[in-house]
Amino acid sequence: MRMFAALTGAMVMVLAAGMASAEVAPARQAKLKDMVDQDCGSCHGMTRHGGLGSPLLQEDLAKLSAEAVIETILEGRPGTPMPPWKAILSREEAAWIAAYLMGELK
Ligand code: HEC
Repeated sequence: MRMFAALTGAMVMVLAAGMASAEVAPARQAKLKDMVDQDCGSCHGMTRHGGLGSPLLQEDLAKLSAEAVIETILEGRPGTPMPPWKAILSREEAAWIAAYLMGELK
């Protein structure tokens, strides 16, 4: 049992570290990129320089941890127009988008 808990803990850490690219199939990655341009872009700008939503360029997100970006994507920012996306994005997908926006995926 202990061994199992330790293994699960290690797996959670690997996921939390934003090692998401392996979890998201290439075809889905292409869809997520489209979504960032179109859906996120409708508020944050197609080029992510901001609009109704704050700019989402790499340097703008550098102040946040990957985990904070993932949480913002999944839960939104209550009291602001930033909606929660957890109904259509898994945590792995949100982690992939966070890594993509933060410039960690080449
Ligand atoms: C309806 C408009 C809207 C859409 C669509 C939208 N956002 Fe936002 N988002 C906002 C607003 C407004 C804020 C600023 C919230 C605040 O004041 O804290 C924000 C904040 C954020 C932040 C935090 C930025 C920071 O510097 O603190 C991230 C990350 C983010 N959005 C990612 C996304 C992603 C990824 C998508 C698409 C899946 C998305 N947003 C779609 C309106 C939107």
